[in-house]
Amino acid sequence: MTVDARLVVTGANGRIGRLLRKLWAHKPPKGLFPIWLTRTEWNIGVEAPPDLPTGGVLLDLAGVTRGDFERNPFLASKVADLSQQLGCKLIYVSSASVYPGGAMDMDEDQALAPVSAYGRSKVAAEVTVRAVASNPTILRLGNIAGADALLAGNRQGKLVALDQSTYGNRGPVRSYIGPHVLADVLSLICSKAIAAKGIGHTLNVAQPDPVAMADLLDAAGYDWSFRAPREGVIDQVALSLGRLQALMPVPPATAPSLVEDLCRLGGWP
Ligand SMILES: NC(=O)c1ccc[n+]([C@@H]2O[C@H](COP(=O)([O-])OP(=O)(O)OC[C@H]3O[C@@H](n4cnc5c(N)ncnc54)[C@H](OP(=O)(O)O)[C@@H]3O)[C@@H](O)[C@H]2O)c1
Repeated sequence: MTVDARLVVTGANGRIGRLLRKLWAHKPPKGLFPIWLTRTEWNIGVEAPPDLPTGGVLLDLAGVTRGDFERNPFLASKVADLSQQLGCKLIYVSSASVYPGGAMDMDEDQALAPVSAYGRSKVAAEVTVRAVASNPTILRLGNIAGADALLAGNRQGKLVALDQSTYGNRGPVRSYIGPHVLADVLSLICSKAIAAKGIGHTLNVAQPDPVAMADLLDAAGYDWSFRAPREGVIDQVALSLGRLQALMPVPPATAPSLVEDLCRLGGWP
């Protein structure tokens, strides 16, 4: 009988961590046994990591998404150190915010040019991870329906003030992924990593076909109106998804399908 390899997941109490714990509870990634690390099990950068089995995969979801972003490279370096100690494959979860955005699809090999402090901290974390870990894979995640400011930060009955875009009359456009699709994609990526199937050094993660924010708000039944034009709005961040789709089929996103995926969760875990 073969024993499943370990999949250590840091940041297990965050939005993505809680989602994976719920959706993988009955269907963990094939060939892997998850070990969930919250801050209680390991306060990263403050205490030594707990004893863990060697080998397997380490999925790093720990990070600062609000506030003190400067800590991101430091936290990433500590998790990368752990991956070296355990001799396991590190998958670091970065973000589409490392890209500048614009009319073209954002390709994994293009020059990075983050426009926000958060994006700059994720670039610095990526550089750190590559310097410390052997052969890590970096995932650059697009917007997650329900974990983003648009759907999570608003509700029916509240008038949403939407930024205008110079590209069209439906507001900013982003590559999105629904929560169930995200859980399935991360599951397959982790399983392929342990099966020693090449998953590449950098992978954009989202569903094909970027979605306009006004379409998402309409699909969710939220009232909205455009706010006055303001500086610093990124009209479009569309991810190039050829690499991901070469690894696995990922269904295209539409605004209604993203909202349906989120509603099926019955509330974010
Ligand atoms: N959510 C998105 O839409 C999105 C999109 C693209 C990329 N990402 C990236 O995906 C990763 C996970 O995102 P998320 O939305 O789940 O973030 P989140 O909700 O902010 O969760 C981050 C987790 O990291 C943990 N953490 C922070 N500092 C720690 C420390 N010193 N020791 C131990 N744990 C620590 C936090 O623990 P506590 O709960 O104890 O504070 C939290 O549970 C992040 O790196 C983020 O940049 C997220």
